[in-house]
Amino acid sequence: MFEIIRRDGLARIGKFTTNSGRTMETPALFPVINPKINTVPARELYDKFGFKSLITNSYIIKNTPELKEKAQAVGLHEMLDFPGIIMTDSGTFQSHMYGEVKLTNEEIIEFQKSIGTDIGTVLDIFTEPYWTKEQTAESIEVTLERTQKACEMKGEMMINGVAQGSIYTDLRESCARRMATMDIDVHPIGGVVPLMEQYRYAELVDVIMSSKKGLNPNRPVHLFGAGHPMILAFAALMGCDFFDSASYAKFARDERMMFVDGTFRLAEMESLDCNCPACRGHTLEELRKMEKGKKTKLIAEHNLYQITQELNLVRRYIREGRLWELAELRCRAHPALLEALRKLKDYQDVMEQYDPISRDGAIFYTGPETRNRPVFKRYLDRLGTRYVLPTDKVALFEDNHGKPYSRPYEQDFDKARRAGYTPIVVAPFGPVPAELDELYPLAQSLFPQIPDMETETESERLTYQFLSMMGVKEVILQDQIPDDGTEEFDANMLRAKAVARYQFGIEAADALFREPVELVTSKKTGKIRNVISDGEHVLSMRAGDGLYTLKLEGAKRITQAVPKPHMRVQVMDDAVPFAAQGRNVFAQFVTECDPEIRTMEEVIVTDKDDNPIATGRAFLVPFEIEQMKKGMAVKVRSGSSDE
Ligand code: GUN
Ligand code: ZN
Repeated sequence: MFEIIRRDGLARIGKFTTNSGRTMETPALFPVINPKINTVPARELYDKFGFKSLITNSYIIKNTPELKEKAQAVGLHEMLDFPGIIMTDSGTFQSHMYGEVKLTNEEIIEFQKSIGTDIGTVLDIFTEPYWTKEQTAESIEVTLERTQKACEMKGEMMINGVAQGSIYTDLRESCARRMATMDIDVHPIGGVVPLMEQYRYAELVDVIMSSKKGLNPNRPVHLFGAGHPMILAFAALMGCDFFDSASYAKFARDERMMFVDGTFRLAEMESLDCNCPACRGHTLEELRKMEKGKKTKLIAEHNLYQITQELNLVRRYIREGRLWELAELRCRAHPALLEALRKLKDYQDVMEQYDPISRDGAIFYTGPETRNRPVFKRYLDRLGTRYVLPTDKVALFEDNHGKPYSRPYEQDFDKARRAGYTPIVVAPFGPVPAELDELYPLAQSLFPQIPDMETETESERLTYQFLSMMGVKEVILQDQIPDDGTEEFDANMLRAKAVARYQFGIEAADALFREPVELVTSKKTGKIRNVISDGEHVLSMRAGDGLYTLKLEGAKRITQAVPKPHMRVQVMDDAVPFAAQGRNVFAQFVTECDPEIRTMEEVIVTDKDDNPIATGRAFLVPFEIEQMKKGMAVKVRSGSSDE
């Protein structure tokens, strides 16, 4: 079973429990144990490094008489002396490396069961990147048949159903979709080792993202053969939960040390600037002269420490909602990774569906690629479809005096409005109208004050595109605003309405701002707190992200004015009384929902007759709600029976 505990876009922190009751936290790495070469003993992986899982090869065990006998007699956990989760591979990788393996799928599934593996693997066919599409399609059929057979045979053992498809994105997606319908427990993405060995990371992005589109979001995704610390953050960002590494030991035997910024040969290193528990206290000279066996063990341990340290960091960044930042930093370690980061722009639409509406910390700009993040696309989409320009004249402002813009520019904005101009800042996000400047992510983001040319050019282009789309009649610059304007305006009211349109859509905002409207503001900060429309409290504004929470009265207005499914999460009758009492809504009780819902978005929980019964924030996206048997879909704030 896989339970999602925290998430950041496609990345997630999960709790995985095997049928045997063993648990682990994800993202996690399964170090490879070669049962014949004990570089780092399994027990040490568990006790010293804290690995709660490992992977070993059932094909090697089966073909080594002493190992086979022992594994079948005492079981794999006792044989390896490992109390955690054991995954076994099937021999597929050996056939990729050395050609044919003499073994049937049934035999290896049966064998994996007989040695007490927690998670066994199908004998899938490794689809090589150089294969033709026909060859790939044919072999996928065989892999799927074998997977089906494995599901029928699995018993208490969990099954890895390996999604294949070479570099063909359509085959990757369709294979993944069919895997999603089968009774498998983990979704490895296979056939990617050659891409990683050849630094073809951009193609790896295509492979992962097209597979992710089809895979069941309820199950962990394993990037088969990936375990280098430099790629972990980026792979987690694309929604990979499991990794495995044989390299930590293989590289150690070749005297190569792994770091987040690459792999370095001991012979070529200039210094041993590593403070991991394995390296601490040693000099480069000492390490070079060390006896071979001792040296291999030390480097293997170093490699494992690098992996665990990076995984800890990845989990922390997910918890903080900042994994994009870590992935962008890591991708600067190698041009092929930077290319992959740029490639990810092709999947901005998919990523946007999982990107939270708001997060706690500020967005840090790390370079021009930052603008490919889905949060930029969402802002521009909503600005284009949900913003109403209050006047047909615009005054443009520069972004160089701090944020929110209305603080340094307070008097200038007022002057512009008195003269009949709407103030708009030319910002890295594109055009930012003054009314929106406090909402996430506009105020909660940090850019260098010396911009790069790409960002400068792009923000100007976006601004001019926006002005022409809006049919603006006149544009002036901030130093051209006339002093003698006399127009009346209410800056708070302009903001209150603009934010509502941005967040809920134009029609919904009209219903929420039925006259007479009164704004309650904070005595201390002057900021908008509550919106009272026609005597009813419909909205409250959060100070942190400048967005609204929706009151049940507000929800009623929206359901009356805007047809289904806008903002709705409809639940079955059984769940209605619970939601009404303010209890959270779980995925299995949802019957329908708005396909446009994003995580952390305000939603309206409704019954089958479209009566609003509660409001809250979405925790899952519609695709997940549809697929998931478990999991909180809506974190309910207040229900109809407690107001
Ligand atoms: N190890 C690395 N890649 C693969 C793969 O595609 N399939 C299996 N079974 N094991 C792997
Ligand atoms: Zn070290």
